[in-house]
Amino acid sequence: MSDEMLTPRPVRDSESEMTELVLPNDANPLGALLGGRLMHWIDLAGALAVHRHARSYAVTASVDHIDFLVPVRVGDMVVLKSSVNRVFQTSAEVGVKVFVENYLADTVQHVASAHLTFVAVDAKGNRLKVPAVIPETEEQKRRYDDAGRRREMRRTEVERRRKAKQ
Ligand SMILES: CC(C)(COP(=O)(O)OP(=O)(O)OC[C@H]1O[C@@H](n2cnc3c(N)ncnc32)[C@H](O)[C@@H]1OP(=O)(O)O)[C@@H](O)C(=O)NCCC(=O)NCCS
Repeated sequence: MSDEMLTPRPVRDSESEMTELVLPNDANPLGALLGGRLMHWIDLAGALAVHRHARSYAVTASVDHIDFLVPVRVGDMVVLKSSVNRVFQTSAEVGVKVFVENYLADTVQHVASAHLTFVAVDAKGNRLKVPAVIPETEEQKRRYDDAGRRREMRRTEVERRRKAKQ
């Protein structure tokens, strides 16, 4: 990969937004959005941010714990905002924050937040180094620091599982 491709980029370059209108096929028989459909959208929204930042293909390596805070109904608009929190070597943590907008009631509520780790790969699936990310705002700096702590927790958990298998 060329040096130019590895030039550090600000978090804002990765910021992405995806909007979905919830249709009956996205919902259970009671008209509430399926958790699995929301997880699919979260994965896609995360991929948008990592593609913009890394300018490469990427695969999802892991998704951290997700809580669904409020129900989402057919007819609601779901807005997913994503950006790169921190880059390691070949992987990057992306944060996705999900909101539900009810345009009739004119309300916006926080539905869920998720942290995903993507690994950058080339067309043959070989891992690629990811350019560093530059946090600029206080919030971006907090997310950057938190992402470092989360990475340590993930590594501890992977290690614990590996030992449990032996
Ligand atoms: C993700 C994947 C590329 C990691 O491969 P691996 O050989 O286990 O990789 P390594 O242990 O050498 O780690 C490579 C990077 O992935 C990260 N990684 C690996 N497993 C991870 C996990 N469970 N969570 C977060 N990061 C992980 C490592 O920390 C490392 O990051 P770094 O280079 O920034 O330090 C591989 O497991 C894979 O291809 N998985 C399938 C991905 C996929 O198909 N996703 C779609 C959903 S099915």
